[in-house]
Amino acid sequence: MVLERFMAKHLPGIERELDKCLPNDTVYPQGLHQAMRYSTLGGGKRLRGLLALAATEMVAKDRFGELEEAAYRLAAAVEMVHAYSLIHDDLPCMDDDDYRRGKLANHKVFGEAVAVLAGDALLTESFALLVQLEDLGVSAAVVTRIIGEMAEAGGSRGLVGGQAVDLDSEGRSISTETLEYIHTHKTGALFRAVLRCGAMIGGASAQELSDITKYAECFGLCFQITDDILDVVGDEAKLGKKTGSDIEQQKVTYVSLYGLEKARQLAADTMQEARLAIADYRPHSDVLCSLAEYVVGRDH
Ligand code: IPE
Ligand code: IPE
Ligand code: MG
Ligand code: MG
Ligand code: MG
Repeated sequence: MVLERFMAKHLPGIERELDKCLPNDTVYPQGLHQAMRYSTLGGGKRLRGLLALAATEMVAKDRFGELEEAAYRLAAAVEMVHAYSLIHDDLPCMDDDDYRRGKLANHKVFGEAVAVLAGDALLTESFALLVQLEDLGVSAAVVTRIIGEMAEAGGSRGLVGGQAVDLDSEGRSISTETLEYIHTHKTGALFRAVLRCGAMIGGASAQELSDITKYAECFGLCFQITDDILDVVGDEAKLGKKTGSDIEQQKVTYVSLYGLEKARQLAADTMQEARLAIADYRPHSDVLCSLAEYVVGRDH
């Protein structure tokens, strides 16, 4: 109920913010801007955007109203980074997937070159949005930290590093440590960064930041274990992407390594751990607690 209300309130807001922040497709070069908007608007669960808002709200409490605009800007920035990562992830040289969010993948519509460039532009433009946080009530010192955290999370020691090891591991048997590296980096790093940055916008203390970081790390893991499970047992129509892609690409996943039942148990355990990390902040952490539950119980 808490989460439903939160989503009803903020999902349209995230969409509006993205629409406002993305260059209009009448702006030259139109084709590139169309491709950027195609993959960013009108799809996706907006988990990362919701997490930005929920983290700011948990920390800021009744000061959230003053910081809402900044939290929305962060939400748009992280959804743009995420959209870029999905466009590139679907390319023939990566996972070679033709469908994303219930429609043709970016490269199937705009061609590979434009898809690469649209991803590049989304990533770069997201940092321009983060710079704007200073005009929205966030101190220069915090803005600088946020930019640093997002850059590191997106870089070779974060998302890109995870994607590199994911691709390098195709068709090979890898250790549980390597699988954990892939998951914590390709997916976990961005969740961790956006939750920490949302909390920083809210003015988090060292303790709050450390607790939200623990939540984030567990959340990222249970999210990706569930993504692996859905690739095996999920419904393509609901997911909006092809299932069986991991098996086809010979990816090592939590399911291939541990089996379905154990993977489900691990997802449930890490979800509980995530909830526990922020239990002391209830009721202000209720939305984050529900989001962790939602992520494990989802069918898309
Ligand atoms: C899918 O992420 C890609 C991964 C990081 C595994 P999501 O499941 O959050 O994708 P959308 O945004 O809802 O489409
Ligand atoms: C994608 O992971 C991670 C990033 C895009 C950074 P997956 O390859 O598992 O995502 P899906 O299953 O295609 O959505
Ligand atoms: Mg992939
Ligand atoms: Mg993929
Ligand atoms: Mg997957």
